[in-house]
Amino acid sequence: MKYIKLSQTNDLMPTLGLGTWQAPPDVVESAVYKALDLGYRHLDTAFNYNNEEAIGTAVTKWIDDGKGARSDLFITTKLPHVGNRASDVRKFLNLQLERLQMNYVDLYLIHVPFGFKCDPISLTPTVKETGDYELDMDTNHGLTWQVMEECQKEGLIRNLGLSNFNEKQTENIIKNAQLKPQVLQVELHAYFQQVQLRKFCEDNHIVLTAYAPLGSPGAKTHFVTKYKYSPSAFPDLLSLPEVKGIADRYGKTPAQILLHFLVQEQIVVIPKSTNEHRLKENMDIYDFELTPEEMDSLRKLDKGEDARIFNFLFWKGVENHPEHPFKLDQTAEV
Ligand code: A2P
Repeated sequence: MKYIKLSQTNDLMPTLGLGTWQAPPDVVESAVYKALDLGYRHLDTAFNYNNEEAIGTAVTKWIDDGKGARSDLFITTKLPHVGNRASDVRKFLNLQLERLQMNYVDLYLIHVPFGFKCDPISLTPTVKETGDYELDMDTNHGLTWQVMEECQKEGLIRNLGLSNFNEKQTENIIKNAQLKPQVLQVELHAYFQQVQLRKFCEDNHIVLTAYAPLGSPGAKTHFVTKYKYSPSAFPDLLSLPEVKGIADRYGKTPAQILLHFLVQEQIVVIPKSTNEHRLKENMDIYDFELTPEEMDSLRKLDKGEDARIFNFLFWKGVENHPEHPFKLDQTAEV
């Protein structure tokens, strides 16, 4: 395992984490236990993934079985879209810590820059007669951040960060924050390399985490059937000849090349898997280095903004929220 140092706290973040989006509780529990046994030390979850409790159970069992300590682990979770307001930060964080059976998380991210109104019983977005989620137009990142800072000072959170924020939104937080964002988690893969955002993060000492580093092949069916996505929105990165050619040269799989490529670029990756074979495969990415020519050939796969898969427009009407992340970005298509 390799680590990257976070600028303000000097905490070490493992450059490989286990993604758990779309990992249902009944399968994620054993997958997490298995992953920890294999050597994963970084887990990425969120309130919205509905699996924090199962992950907490697996981690607690692993620690109780004497296999390691909480301090060996780096646990990330996220403030949900329905809790994206100062007055809700503590409510959600406390509930999430309870579900995770932990007294702190290593990294707490604001999951998305926009907010929805929250049904107080189900803790899901309130729904209008049209079926659209009800937007919370009063979302105020600065005020939310201040409460997150208080929680960090109290030891409930070790590091603060953002997810799905664009450059301008991130800059606004940096300008006003006492405790700076340490991590920005965004969609990032061979077809969508986020070149401009990477430069911005480097200049501001923010570590970038890539979600969907394999292009999220498992989400394709769901998004095509439920959200009417075009199948072509999901690139088949694992079949790209450039990637396969390099994989053959090193005796590695295309997935290992795609992950290693990003890690060699100083980007943290969080591939999701609940399959033991692929969990193992995705860890085995540290025993080789790509040449400058190979790195260049992979960099050339970048298609920029056109290759973005996740724009959140599947939540109908979200583009009307003042903080829809891609509206403010001049280079983005909405
Ligand atoms: P599974 O959980 O069955 O392993 P991403 O992290 O880009 O969103 O991709 C996650 C998807 O990719 C999941 O559907 C996962 O399926 C699949 N996946 C994870 N690791 C690999 C791998 N090494 N090779 C092929 N598919 C993989």
